[in-house]
Amino acid sequence: MEHSARHTVIFTTLLCIVFSVLVSAVAVSLQDRQEENARLDKIKNVLSVAGLAEPGESLSPDELRERFEGGLVPQIIDLASGQPVEGMDPLSYDQRKAAKDPEQSRAVEENRSKVRRVPEKALVYLIKDGEETAGIVLPIEGYGLWGTLYGYLALDASTRTVRGITFYSHKETPGLGGEVDNPRWKALWPGRLAFDDKWEPALRVKKGSAGPPEKDPYQVDGLSGATLTSNGVTNMIQFWLGREGFATYLAELRKQGDMG
Ligand SMILES: Cc1cc2nc3c(=O)[nH]c(=O)nc-3n(C[C@H](O)[C@H](O)[C@H](O)COP(=O)(O)O)c2cc1C
Repeated sequence: MEHSARHTVIFTTLLCIVFSVLVSAVAVSLQDRQEENARLDKIKNVLSVAGLAEPGESLSPDELRERFEGGLVPQIIDLASGQPVEGMDPLSYDQRKAAKDPEQSRAVEENRSKVRRVPEKALVYLIKDGEETAGIVLPIEGYGLWGTLYGYLALDASTRTVRGITFYSHKETPGLGGEVDNPRWKALWPGRLAFDDKWEPALRVKKGSAGPPEKDPYQVDGLSGATLTSNGVTNMIQFWLGREGFATYLAELRKQGDMG
């Protein structure tokens, strides 16, 4: 009896060890896959905001890579000087991590978008049309109602006209603020103007309906029942197109005539 009780304890202990190792291994391998999926989803968002993938288009990882390499050039830039940074690998640079690291970021003045720190270096994507640069994809982030929305705003070669907007991560309520993902709402953005004649950020999400881009270039329809998320989108656009954001970089691009 005593003998079999000892066996039971040993057997049970071994079983526990084997299964905990198995569960940990599965968790680790799934984490890798989740990270890879998140990375691919981000690439898909960059492609779609640049106009290089249709909304909802199904692309394999290889097709995504091919389209990315064919149409986009990632570039790390110094936010304060607006100059490209040489000698850093854009593909392994994690801007969101850098924004949290005191050595790679700086505090900014209080702003409506509740952005507290900006990374010293930002990862942008030049949109290529053969040798020409046809536009630029800028990362944007800011507070909505429930948390931070992370996405991209794409501008054409003039740096004034919007090519598109997309969000790859947010915590807004499906059907309300979550409508930022609705392709019909995102389709309202291309052709609007990001800056006014004095190059001040002018684009905003209004409450209610805006006219077509030719008549109402600086406004986009509000999300109904989600004014707080809509205001969050306005605030983040104003912040990232402003002086603490990409204003200097965009001015440099225009000055050097890199675009168009
Ligand atoms: C459960 C719940 C979830 C909500 N989610 C959102 C949201 O994601 N975004 C948002 O702006 N408002 C959300 N609201 C509504 C806000 O509290 C607020 O009423 C709304 O933004 C006002 O917009 P309106 O002026 O267009 O009605 C939510 C409300 C409730 C009760």
